[in-house]
Amino acid sequence: MSATNRPLLKVDNLKKYFPIKRGLFGRTVGHVKAVDDVSFTIGRNETLGIVGESGCGKTTVGRTILRLIEPTAGSAEFDGQNIFDLAREPLRKLRPKMQIIFQDPYSSLNPRMTVDSLIGDAMMYHGLVAESERRDRIKDLLVRVGLQPSYINRYPHEFSGGQRQRIGIARAVALNPDLIVCDEAVSALDVSVQAQIINLLEELQAEYNLSYMFIAHDLSVVKHISDRVAVMYLGQVVELSECEALYENTLHPYAQALLSAIPHPVPGKKKKRIILTGDVPTPINPPSGCRFHTRCPARFKPCDTVEPKLLDVDNGHLVKCHLYDPEYRAMVPDGISQSFLVELAGQKAKKTAPEPAPSPTPAAAAAAVAPAAVAAPPEPAAPAAAAPAEPAAPETSVSLDAPADAFSAMDLPDAASWGDLEESDDSESQS
Ligand SMILES: Nc1ncnc2c1ncn2[C@@H]1O[C@H](COP(=O)(O)OP(=O)(O)OP(=O)(O)O)[C@@H](O)[C@H]1O
Ligand code: SF4
Ligand SMILES: [Mg+2]
Repeated sequence: MSATNRPLLKVDNLKKYFPIKRGLFGRTVGHVKAVDDVSFTIGRNETLGIVGESGCGKTTVGRTILRLIEPTAGSAEFDGQNIFDLAREPLRKLRPKMQIIFQDPYSSLNPRMTVDSLIGDAMMYHGLVAESERRDRIKDLLVRVGLQPSYINRYPHEFSGGQRQRIGIARAVALNPDLIVCDEAVSALDVSVQAQIINLLEELQAEYNLSYMFIAHDLSVVKHISDRVAVMYLGQVVELSECEALYENTLHPYAQALLSAIPHPVPGKKKKRIILTGDVPTPINPPSGCRFHTRCPARFKPCDTVEPKLLDVDNGHLVKCHLYDPEYRAMVPDGISQSFLVELAGQKAKKTAPEPAPSPTPAAAAAAVAPAAVAAPPEPAAPAAAAPAEPAAPETSVSLDAPADAFSAMDLPDAASWGDLEESDDSESQS
């Protein structure tokens, strides 16, 4: 691949296992499989959003690719160089090119250092500016991130959370990076400040041709800023796609549940929300087969024994789920495929309206939920009766174009079997 069209970062089969030590001699008795076989790319000037529940390994991915922690296996090529093979000195030289902005603006800045030291020391260390130009450069950066140049002599405790985050951003940008890992960079800020920081990040991206790995819990924020999004579950990527395709045609049952928590754009309109029950299983001993099978509303025969492959089902839309594997397609029970399977053909999703089963079996009833509410248009464009006009669409696919009411008519799942589905007024959020 030529240097011009190769991605800035290419991560292959990344694993990070933390050893669990016990006893007087610190014997290793097991491993926390925090990241287990993760692959993705980030292009130049691209933002890859990473979402998933707490503990699924988002931060560990970010820190490992920056080599703040050492990987267990896999490779990460940054601008053609395998970062994991780099010795100390070449790694030190590469460090300015890959920066991180942390979640907590209160603890990520050393309280004993002034802004001058916080931003300037790293620039000096990497030889990026002469001593005579240092203060002018810092003042320029402060202005660029929306702060007064006179703040250069202040300490972190003299700033608000949003201002501290701006200092964190200035510190990262000062080193002329190509890639910035934003690890929950706006999560600790209130909503209006979040918007300002997001706008600032977008402006800086355009100005300095930056790439971002944007880790966040807030799916609306991720949707706003990302070009592509990866959904992680228990150390693995379960769905990865262009942002719009992922939010419009959410394929993986876990991603469907996660995205069903996004507030509905039409005021007063209720939507179905999938609330998964149970904690995330431990990454020390993850479930066999599909790691999500213990909580999955769509699980079927192969799920608890066979690990799904990460399949490219639609021009770069990747999903790790047996529902989309041609090998297992014939085994998918009707009730499950009606509710969860999004039938894709080329770039465009093809869907048909589900015919509510006249008398579902208990298992089918448990599975008959409305994840399609995630992607259903706020105003139904076509009546359900129009759907059969699509002759090629299989009977078992879900109509995302069908009226939302078609979904409300479907049976709710048996909570005991997999989780709860509730009518939501969007007053809560889940991640
Ligand atoms: N240094 C460590 N030693 C042992 N286990 C660790 C270490 N760091 C992280 N872990 C474990 O690895 C898993 C992934 O942690 P990580 O911080 O990457 O999750 P996360 O997705 O960023 O979560 P959050 O959204 O809460 O920040 C967790 O089970 C965590 O307990
Ligand atoms: S592979 Fe099976 S258990 Fe896993 S997400 Fe798909 S349907 Fe659910
Ligand atoms: Mg984290």
